[in-house]
Amino acid sequence: MKIEWTDDLSTGVPEMDEQHKQLIALLNDFYVAVERGERDEGIQALFEGVDRYTVFHFSAEEAFMEQIGYPDLPSHRETHAMFRREYQGAMERHGAGDRKAVRDLVAFLFSWLYTHIQKTDKRYGAFARQQVGQG
Ligand SMILES: [Fe+2]
Repeated sequence: MKIEWTDDLSTGVPEMDEQHKQLIALLNDFYVAVERGERDEGIQALFEGVDRYTVFHFSAEEAFMEQIGYPDLPSHRETHAMFRREYQGAMERHGAGDRKAVRDLVAFLFSWLYTHIQKTDKRYGAFARQQVGQG
């Protein structure tokens, strides 16, 4: 099922919200391509697109947390690293011809991303608001 952006996913940090929307759009494209039974080359391109975007987004997010002096940065960073390991593993399985890896990955990505934005990412948003005296 595709993910819809709702205010429930907002961190309150506009730059991060924009990146999350972009990431969700990439994942939805990925999902649609898998459902359509897209050829391997097409799927590979989508894998790489999501791969590049998560590298960019996680490092932007970590830089932001560092900038605001966010105390839970180490565990948040570890969560991103864990995600990257899972993702790389699924990419490799797909490269080795395991098509089921793609479906499993998309399902995992969607549920992980949704929960991560809604629970973990929102916390740095709350912390950032406190820092500027609005929290
Ligand atoms: Fe995050």
